[in-house]
Amino acid sequence: MLEIHDLTLSVPGHRILRGVSLDVGAGETVGLVGESGSGKSTTARAVLRLVPEGAETAGTISVCGVSPGDPEGVRAIRTEHAAMIFQDPRSALNPVRRIGDSATERLVHVHGVPKAEATRRLVGLMAEVGLRDPESLLRRYPHQLSGGMLQRVVIAAALSTDPKVLLADEATSALDVTTQAEVLALLRRLRRERELAVLFITHDLLLAGAFCDRVYVMKDGLIVDEQPGKTVFVDPANPYTKALADATPRLPEREHGHA
Ligand SMILES: Nc1ncnc2c1ncn2[C@@H]1O[C@H](COP(=O)(O)OP(=O)(O)OP(=O)(O)O)[C@@H](O)[C@H]1O
Ligand SMILES: [Mg+2]
Repeated sequence: MLEIHDLTLSVPGHRILRGVSLDVGAGETVGLVGESGSGKSTTARAVLRLVPEGAETAGTISVCGVSPGDPEGVRAIRTEHAAMIFQDPRSALNPVRRIGDSATERLVHVHGVPKAEATRRLVGLMAEVGLRDPESLLRRYPHQLSGGMLQRVVIAAALSTDPKVLLADEATSALDVTTQAEVLALLRRLRRERELAVLFITHDLLLAGAFCDRVYVMKDGLIVDEQPGKTVFVDPANPYTKALADATPRLPEREHGHA
């Protein structure tokens, strides 16, 4: 579904990605973890051809067999094949438009879905991610909602267009554990029912291990390790993965092997 091969990305004076290769299959959830600044968001954004101004890129990207190398490919990927939940939900929404207009925009204007139907779809997904009274939320403006609520709105909006590939950049990091569980349950269901492929970017190593089928570890613009989710942080052989795992706080019972 998503294949990235030897992707490099440089801005003047700085090589941000130094040959990233990864793939995510249909119905697969794949984690991308690594320290701040390692290039996780840059990798995901490159899939939609959202690259910094003046950036030079090389390598190949394919989403459902389509490359973002030309304008038609970019359009097809952005509108039909992939959707992204951006790391900062506030930046993804226009501050002076009502949330309902921003969040249904792609469905209405790109997919040609009638506004009432688009709203109905969005409201259903908002309820699934634990937002109460979604209709009234849609009439409000971004500044009137908390960060966690906005995060859930953009998750619902991203899923409403029925993408094949979801790029989830710290999608649940701002949420409390209960809400996070609701969002993950929804993603699990879509993974099962629609064979949704998810690239799940997170700082939370334990979450990545628990939620993802496979996990890539990224450092300084390179993938340095790839492991099955279940065992990624159980005595990793790779020294960088081990350092990350050792730096991750665990519940006390886990340390004693009871969890
Ligand atoms: N528009 C840009 N212009 C120049 N450099 C950039 C730009 N965007 C990101 N960078 C640089 O690219 C590197 C990778 O950034 P990126 O945002 O991809 O990291 P990240 O792994 O997502 O980090 P975090 O975990 O903090 O979100 C950083 O060194 C950052 O300073
Ligand atoms: Mg990031």
